[in-house]
Amino acid sequence: MLQIFPDASSIAEHVSSILITKIKSKPDVVLGLATGGTMEPIYARFVERVRQQKVDVSRLTSFNLDEYVGLGPDHPKSYSAYMRQHLFQHLEFDPTRLHVPDGLAPDLEQHSREYSAKLEQTGGVELQLLGVGSNGHIGFNEPGTPFDSRCHVVQLSERTRIDNSRFFEGDAIVPASAITMGMVEIMQAREVLLVATGENKAEIVAEWYRREVTEAVPFTILKKHQRARIILDEAAASRLPADVRKALMAASA
Ligand code: F6R
Repeated sequence: MLQIFPDASSIAEHVSSILITKIKSKPDVVLGLATGGTMEPIYARFVERVRQQKVDVSRLTSFNLDEYVGLGPDHPKSYSAYMRQHLFQHLEFDPTRLHVPDGLAPDLEQHSREYSAKLEQTGGVELQLLGVGSNGHIGFNEPGTPFDSRCHVVQLSERTRIDNSRFFEGDAIVPASAITMGMVEIMQAREVLLVATGENKAEIVAEWYRREVTEAVPFTILKKHQRARIILDEAAASRLPADVRKALMAASA
């Protein structure tokens, strides 16, 4: 299902309220979490609303999608650090229930298998949050990733490294590889919310709309998910066919 909201702020409100409803109805829910610019306003609003409504988050479990290889949890540009900065340090989570892949694991392939196994042991993800790369990646499953891939180590594409260089100031170089949940773990989530905001996502969103399910545009796989929602702001939706845009905007007004 596609939905269009006016802007990133109204999306943050909407997604926060979905998350909070889920946590209230199932306090030990397993959430799949993403990082990146798209998630920042969402986590900020979520923290605000959780505090206002005094929601108990201490029993939820989370699994992050990915981490850069070579960056340990203490590295300021690691996704562990991102999660602490934008979410984990602000609320009363149980740290033993928060999982982010370890970019410094001595055997990355084994760590990937263990991460996947741990996720499976908890019963899998109930609600998965996703952003999307400007090349259509989800998690760090770059174009061409087989749909039957599980948690694995990936070489990041040039496009992704350029996109993400905005988070690495100065001479710091975007790592060349990452660990990511695979397409299988993502598709096993009972419910998926993919959020795309901003003009730089407009082209890939239009391509998603035009194309059949294809490994060349990883997030097209969500067309096969029974409970996936693609949540766009007007800028990200701006290159969808005009009639489609109009109908979707009327539906969410
Ligand atoms: C991050 C992740 C990536 C991002 C995507 C979009 O954990 O899995 O797929 O969601 O690269 O990033 P932003 O939101 O920075 O445009």
